Amino acid sequence: MEKNTALKENMAPFRYRKPGYVALNVTDLNRSVHFYRDLVGLQLEEQVGSDMAFLRCSGDHHNLALYRSETPGIKRMAFELESPADLDRARSYVERQGWSPQEVPEEERRQLKQGRTFRFRVPEHSITFEFYAQMDRASGSFVPTVAKIQRLGHVVLHCANRDEFLRTLTEKLNFRVSDYFGEQVAFLRCFPNPFHHSFGVSRGEKDALHHINFMVTDVDDVGRANNRMRNNDVPIVYGPGRHDISNSIFLYYLDPDRLTAEYSFGMEEFPEEASRAPRQLPLRPEILDSWGGIPAPAFGKVGAVESSS
Ligand SMILES: [Fe+2]
Repeated sequence: MEKNTALKENMAPFRYRKPGYVALNVTDLNRSVHFYRDLVGLQLEEQVGSDMAFLRCSGDHHNLALYRSETPGIKRMAFELESPADLDRARSYVERQGWSPQEVPEEERRQLKQGRTFRFRVPEHSITFEFYAQMDRASGSFVPTVAKIQRLGHVVLHCANRDEFLRTLTEKLNFRVSDYFGEQVAFLRCFPNPFHHSFGVSRGEKDALHHINFMVTDVDDVGRANNRMRNNDVPIVYGPGRHDISNSIFLYYLDPDRLTAEYSFGMEEFPEEASRAPRQLPLRPEILDSWGGIPAPAFGKVGAVESSS
């Protein structure tokens, strides 16, 4: 146990457990609840009127929070740290960086069913990060319906200041690069979480959402989704195909606000110690899809980063 919490000198003094949840802004809450519950297969844990809904794909209270908004996109990205002690150290550390961490007030924490929680931004990107260490369990275990979702996998963002943001993520926030896709995308794991990427940063003209991902347990989940989405007039924008980068089979589709969401099956896992070095993969389409697919123009095109929370 002691070994697991050991921190090296050159690391920021906290450890991630996992990407906890993503908060999205959606223009029609009921329509998006229907989509993520009935077509993607998340479980609705709680809906607060027409303003907010919490859905999950695990025993957590939520892994996806939907907020009604005029502008669709990403509201914040939340990471669960390993322990309350990690959270305390992270809070002081973020303060020392001059990033002005904001405590989430108790009333909102009660709604989120989370223990102490704080939010902050780094100067290089408009995304709000949220860190917490404790979330209540949901009302029961997750019961898969249309897809056997395992977990919230990752979020990828477009970044106007990609290189500076990447430097902050890796040098100050304990992210590790697993692979580079040319100069375009860096795939990052939140150390010591083993999955190849729980976060990705892509070079872009402005800060924006690229896509969110849910990992599934079975390749059939991807195949069935391909037909289910088509039968329900959900645009498929890429796939099914295979990402050789992370060794996963994928399908990308658009939610009702045209935000891009993905299912993927399989992903390389990294050991905490002696992990392989990141690869610099060439910027060729077959690297992203070894089955030869090409993304549709709408792939990763919609999703503002909220700058006011
Ligand atoms: Fe992805």
